[in-house]
Amino acid sequence: MTRTPAGQLTVRRFHQLAKDNYMSTMDSSRSLSYSNYADPGFVQKYAASIRDNAWNAFYERPASLSLLPPLKDLDVLDAGCGPGAVSQLLVQAGARVTAADYSAPMLEATLAATGNAVTCLLQDLNEPLVLDDASFDAIYCALVIHYVDDLHLLFSEFARVLRPQGVLVFSTDHPENPLLSGREPERKHFSEVEWASFSVRMQVYQRPWREIEQACLANGLHIEQVLEPKPLAEAEQTDPEAYAYLSKNKHFICVRTVKR
Ligand SMILES: C[S@@+](CC[C@H](N)C(=O)[O-])C[C@H]1O[C@@H](n2cnc3c(N)ncnc32)[C@H](O)[C@@H]1O
Repeated sequence: MTRTPAGQLTVRRFHQLAKDNYMSTMDSSRSLSYSNYADPGFVQKYAASIRDNAWNAFYERPASLSLLPPLKDLDVLDAGCGPGAVSQLLVQAGARVTAADYSAPMLEATLAATGNAVTCLLQDLNEPLVLDDASFDAIYCALVIHYVDDLHLLFSEFARVLRPQGVLVFSTDHPENPLLSGREPERKHFSEVEWASFSVRMQVYQRPWREIEQACLANGLHIEQVLEPKPLAEAEQTDPEAYAYLSKNKHFICVRTVKR
């Protein structure tokens, strides 16, 4: 990847890709939930919701962020960046951030959230990354891998673009998440989850822990820490029902791995 002043280059690259009709080439049978995430109306609602909701702001996000190393002057990839809530924090912590997502409206939102302070990349994480070998010190990939078909390809690509001792932090549905129905852990399959407050159904891949663990280990990503987070006290004020559910159930899991 050619490094240029943050923001500029990628805005250009991103518009070029959008012009090339990227959206119409998406394979929606593999790239799950694309139609939701590429909907500008959904993106707006999602961005507003995760700012201070129980599920993200007061449960998953603080746990995942706690697994990152000090970020000053590091090159960090925010893979599946969404509307940029975390990219913004990474920039504030002094990192040079590349934000990747398969949704153009999510990247637009990330550019706006960070004041164009990141390099944006329109990238389906089901495809090889258009990024150089050993170009990142850390990768942050929150709540994304359950939309990606081939976890081995994704983690081998993450390992390729990480520098030695680089850190990959990811979070995903807990393998024992009670809201995922019809579990058949012996084979890869996906199920639909209702996001009632957004009036959408999301399709996600369900994976048993051993499949996630294998994809890490087979690609030289040593698992250092696994968190089963508890909601923060703020979640109780924001959304007592979500707080009660998250206090009792294993909903997301957060993992820190190091490239060996
Ligand atoms: C639940 S959101 C999480 C956003 C962000 N990581 C956060 O924690 O706030 C999932 C994000 O992953 C992106 N995504 C899902 N599947 C993807 C794929 N195959 N390639 C690239 N991005 C993907 C979606 O567009 C969305 O922005």
